[in-house]
Formats: sequence, structure tokens, C-alpha cells
Amino acid sequence: MKVNRIQFSNYGSASEMYIGEYGLPQLKADEVQISVKAAAINPLDWKQRRGDMKLIMGKKFPKGIGNDFAGIVEAVGANVQNIKVGDEVFGTMDVKKPGAFASKLITQSKFIAKKPTNISFSEASCLPIGATVAWAALFLKTKVHKNTRVLINGCTGAVGSLAVQLAKEKGAWVAGTCSKTETEEAKKIGVDKIFDYNEPNYWKKSELFDVVFDTAGLMKQTDGFSMLKPNGKFVDINPTPKSMLTGLFKPKYKFTFATAGMKHLADIAELVEKGKLKPRIGKEINFENTIDELIKIENGKGVKGRTVIVF
Ligand SMILES: NC(=O)c1ccc[n+]([C@@H]2O[C@H](COP(=O)([O-])OP(=O)(O)OC[C@H]3O[C@@H](n4cnc5c(N)ncnc54)[C@H](OP(=O)(O)O)[C@@H]3O)[C@@H](O)[C@H]2O)c1
Repeated sequence: MKVNRIQFSNYGSASEMYIGEYGLPQLKADEVQISVKAAAINPLDWKQRRGDMKLIMGKKFPKGIGNDFAGIVEAVGANVQNIKVGDEVFGTMDVKKPGAFASKLITQSKFIAKKPTNISFSEASCLPIGATVAWAALFLKTKVHKNTRVLINGCTGAVGSLAVQLAKEKGAWVAGTCSKTETEEAKKIGVDKIFDYNEPNYWKKSELFDVVFDTAGLMKQTDGFSMLKPNGKFVDINPTPKSMLTGLFKPKYKFTFATAGMKHLADIAELVEKGKLKPRIGKEINFENTIDELIKIENGKGVKGRTVIVF
């Protein structure tokens, strides 16, 4: 079966993207085929196209674009359990094989879970990568609990706002950085103390933290370390090969990826259903406008919150 998808045939700039026809391959035993209802744009989408992950993605083209989605299961492979045809699900793609910006996709069943029943497909598509990486940072790489003091750098971004809510749900005291225009949003999601990241040395006005979670990837490691209590941890979700290597020798430094939290997608859905976690959706667009919107967001001209393609 053929579908239209956003794809690229060389690593490189935004001009490599086009709408192309893609033949869905034969379903493997551990895979599911989804009719996509909504797919959310993530920074990962253009990082993959630029070639930042070419070592793991390889050189076979064309490659699809898009990772996070929500939709309805159309077919399941022979070994898939707990998910059946007709289920409403949300999830992501294998980082090596993106392609969620299409009306249909195939992904591994371990990357999906049942969609929370109290939110729309569009809202659900904003969750997978952001919520799972926040879960990994706060509950797997560090152990945030009710006596923890946490700083979330970029606290109103897609990852940051989910991280704030997850940490608050555990009862932690949560400080966050954002730009001045985002102060109201930070208050709305419950940030206890707000810092303007443009103010130099803002943290010197605060006590030290058990966890500094740099969602934005823009904090100097030395600055992050200077905000930590003696046994505190600095968590990075934008590591470079160099920071990963040197980090091996620094007990304060931790890095993680969304894949580490992916097995908690169903726990994330449960928190959403309990009203403890809410994704931030910016706007909805049509498939035909995807490339233009991707370019805008990549150039820092997108709206706050995730932009979602609706099918
Ligand atoms: N390792 C993984 O698996 C993984 C998973 C998800 C995301 N990521 C990465 O994490 C990053 C954030 O992703 P996202 O989806 O949350 O992006 P996003 O929604 O665009 O959020 C970015 C945030 O960074 C803030 N920010 C901008 N400049 C800043 C600065 N100088 N200091 C502190 N904060 C600043 C923004 O705040 P204002 O809006 O107030 O300017 C915004 O809150 C991306 O690089 C993404 O690729 C990694």
C-alpha cells in the first residue's frame, strides 16, 4: 500500500524535504501498522534530517521525517500482545527509522501504548518523546521525590513543562528558568520559583539543587555543577560524543535519551488520565503545510508548545 509522507533523499538543509510516495513494507512480527490521526513536530525531526544521527541512521534513502504520533491500530504483527486492531494509541518511531509525518506508519509495538482517553489525538501526539525523556531524567537517571529540590532549565518548553509536572507530582520543590514572556505559563504549571534565563548568574539568588535538568541543552556544564548540592546531579538530554565520554569520569553528570523512558509510556498515559500531566499544544496544521511549518520552527519562528499535523 502506498502513502504520501514527508521525506528526504540526502542529509542536509531544509530544502532536502519533499512530499513523496512511500510503499508500506510487510509488517514484521513485533510491529504494528497505524492510521495516523495526529503527529507532533519535535526538534529531533530536523536533527535527523541534518544528519546529526547519520552514524546510526545509515545511508539508505529516501528516509521519512517525523517521530511522535497518535492514531488507530490497523494491523498487528504475529508476536504483538496487549494491543489489538482498533485500539487508539500514541507513540513514536525507532530513532533510526523516522516517518510519522504520513497518513499511515509502521513502528515497533514497544514504542506505543494506549492513548489516554481524556485527551485528543493531537494532544496525545505531543507526549511520547518529551514525557519519556523527562521520566528517564527525573526517575531513572536521578530519583526525584518529595524532598528533592529540582531546577528545570527551559521549564515551559515541551520537555520542560512535562518535567515540571512530573517532579511536582512526586512532591518535589521545583524551580525553573524561562524567558520573561513565559513567566505566566511557568506559574500556571506550578513552578515554585521562576528565573529569567537571560539574567546573568540568576541561580546565585537561590539555594542549591539536588537535580539540575537542562532540557534546553544551553547551560554550561560548569554553571550547572555550580548549582548542585554535594551529591547533586546534572542531567543533560542534548549530549555530544565529547560530553558523554568526559561525563563517564564525572559522577555529577548524567545524560539520557527518550528511549530509556519508553517502557513507561503506559505510566505516562495513566498520569494524564488522572489529570496530573498535560501536554502543551501550540497549534494544529494540515499535512500540506508541514514542510513550511518545520522550516519556521527550525528557525525559531514557531509558536510556543508543539505544532501538530492533523490527518
Ligand atoms: N535526549 C532525548 O531523547 C531528547 C528528547 C526530547 C528533546 N530533546 C532535546 O531537548 C531540547 C528541547 O526540546 P523541546 O522539545 O523541549 O524543545 P522546545 O519545546 O522548543 O523547548 C525549548 C525550551 O528551551 C528554552 N530556552 C531557550 N533558550 C534558552 C536558554 N538560553 N536557557 C534556558 N532555556 C532556554 C525555551 O524557553 P523560552 O520559550 O522561554 O524561550 C523553551 O522552554 C531539544 O534540543 C531536543 O532535541 C532530547
